[in-house]
Amino acid sequence: MTKRLLIATGNKGKLAEFKSLLRGLHLELTDPIQQGLDIVVEEDGHTYSENAMKKALAYAGASGLLTLADDSGLEVDALGGAPGVYTARYGGEGLTDGERVAYLLEQIRDIPWEKRTATFRCIIVVQDASGTSMEFEGICKGIIALYPKGENGFGYDPIFYYPPAGMTVAELPREVKEEISHRGKAARAAMEALKALI
Ligand code: IMP
Repeated sequence: MTKRLLIATGNKGKLAEFKSLLRGLHLELTDPIQQGLDIVVEEDGHTYSENAMKKALAYAGASGLLTLADDSGLEVDALGGAPGVYTARYGGEGLTDGERVAYLLEQIRDIPWEKRTATFRCIIVVQDASGTSMEFEGICKGIIALYPKGENGFGYDPIFYYPPAGMTVAELPREVKEEISHRGKAARAAMEALKALI
């Protein structure tokens, strides 16, 4: 029987990216909805690692499956690295992605282009049923654009300008985002370890 890997996220954008990124693994990829899991994990850790570990443990415990969870965030240099680990709640609870993007743009309205540098960071935790966990990291560097552009991706992609491509991540085709993104890099590292494990 093929072993299953639970991708522990309720974020549809992330889930689609992980399913595509991890498709080369000899594991059946499954998600919380397919498993009938309705878990709310409060992301109150002070680091990405803490939050990713919290999610991985909660979902692995509830499902008994090999589980992959991530926590990610956007670190804006002009804001001293904020919102960072608080990115998902930046600007307040219950905002849409578009409202968060507008809020961030407002916070750095007067910052000139050359000082709008930022980093996307992703920490992945893989938790197996025996209690072993492994952690992987990926980053992507870019610039916060002056206004949103592009329809692909999710979250802050429309304002994350990626200099080597000369466009925002939301303008990049999915396979290019997979190649260059924080999540793509962390997922490839996790894949190597998972291949060795299975
Ligand atoms: P979390 O990892 O689910 O806590 O999400 C952190 C925040 O970063 C959310 O607001 C996401 O929308 C945003 N985010 C995470 N990864 C990406 C990405 O690849 N592109 C754009 N926004 C992202």
